[in-house]
Amino acid sequence: MKDDNFLKANNAKHLWHPMGHPKDSLEAPPRIITKAQGVKITDIDGHQTVDAVGGLWCVNLGYSNRSIKEAITKQLSDLPYYSSFAGTTNPMAIEASYMVRNLFSEDGMSRVFFTSGGSDSVDTCLRLARQYHRLKGEPTRTKFISLKKGYHGTHFGGASVNGNNRFRINYEPLLPGCFHLPSPYTYRNPYNEADSLKLAQNIAAAFEDEIAFQGANSIAAFIMEPIQGAGGVIVPDPIFMTLMRQICDRHGILLISDEVITGFGRTGDWSGARHWGVQPDMMSIAKGITSGYYPVGAALMSDKIAEVFENDDTGDAAIFHGYTYSAHPVGAAAVIACLSETERLDTKVNAQVRGTQLYNGVMELAKKHTIVGDVRGGHGLMLGVELVSDQSKKTPLDTSDMKKIHQKTYEFGAMVRLGLNNILMSPPLTISENEVNQILGALDEGLTAI
Ligand SMILES: Cc1ncc(COP(=O)(O)O)c(C=O)c1O
Repeated sequence: MKDDNFLKANNAKHLWHPMGHPKDSLEAPPRIITKAQGVKITDIDGHQTVDAVGGLWCVNLGYSNRSIKEAITKQLSDLPYYSSFAGTTNPMAIEASYMVRNLFSEDGMSRVFFTSGGSDSVDTCLRLARQYHRLKGEPTRTKFISLKKGYHGTHFGGASVNGNNRFRINYEPLLPGCFHLPSPYTYRNPYNEADSLKLAQNIAAAFEDEIAFQGANSIAAFIMEPIQGAGGVIVPDPIFMTLMRQICDRHGILLISDEVITGFGRTGDWSGARHWGVQPDMMSIAKGITSGYYPVGAALMSDKIAEVFENDDTGDAAIFHGYTYSAHPVGAAAVIACLSETERLDTKVNAQVRGTQLYNGVMELAKKHTIVGDVRGGHGLMLGVELVSDQSKKTPLDTSDMKKIHQKTYEFGAMVRLGLNNILMSPPLTISENEVNQILGALDEGLTAI
């Protein structure tokens, strides 16, 4: 590897970073993270912090999981790659699909289609939803409904159902036939409704209204995150997802639960849908499936979907969709090791306990720092802190102030993530009590930066 001077001199010179302005990266080069241990990361200057981001909502088992590292290394020697396109498979893929199916069988999932990440998984669900309806003799069901503030990745399908305009506008026109309902975001919503239950009912009414307007027989699926992540950690009323499920059922619309963040214990349950007591028709998963050690995702199908595909005799159920790296043997080996560790450590329990500690701690900070407008979390290890410059007007704190807070929090020992005027946190599910306290202490300092 080149020396530090080379790395600093070339930082962002040849590499365009996702989700940022290339000019900003040149002017303020990104931090170079060189090492990680447990739940801590170290940068090129030797500064160590707790990683309150968990990589990118994904390093659920922390950075030092030997089993996953060894499984990847061994698989690289045994079989570094083989295609899983119909006709061939590999032992790891068979075992990994068995394990994934078992983990999500309580959610009604029975089939696994492996992908290379979350965006792939979402697009797989959207495409197979359309194919399902065609197979059932309803080819007019092609539209998708989703929630504002939702994040579903950056492929054209996922971007089309995304509910944050910064991921959409520069890439329009997107897929036709995608429509959005208000987010269950009590702090800001078009109904000016702070009560989560009433807001849920209003959105349910808007959903019914949209279905009547579009025609139920034109809608393939409704997709939602059980807790909206990148949009600011927006926690709906506990009844919200059930209401959405009931409406989907009434109108023959498939429910896709986008579990890319919420899957694998982050909410305190193995899936976000289970957290709310709902069984979806499909799930998109990624991130925690390998704890970020290898890029893998999957689209999961319920029996209802599987039967329609598997009982087809016309040939139309052939899935002409998939990725070179679907069911990649090294990825699948990472999945097996990661899920064994996830279940052995029962990470969902720690996610719930430490999530409550983090949430309560931030609620205390909110009493002290008047720039905290809203704190969202309390369901596992995902937390959003919305910062405002004026409490009564809810004026979003500007970007330069957000960056100052981020920098100071980092200096005092915690890496957090910014999403507009929100501080987002999703640390590894293996985090300890002391490490949560370190995040809280650093954030306390960070919030005094302006
Ligand atoms: C809910 C959700 N869906 C989909 C995606 C896209 O996943 P990926 O970045 O792996 O393509 C993300 C990424 O954060 C996500 O949070």
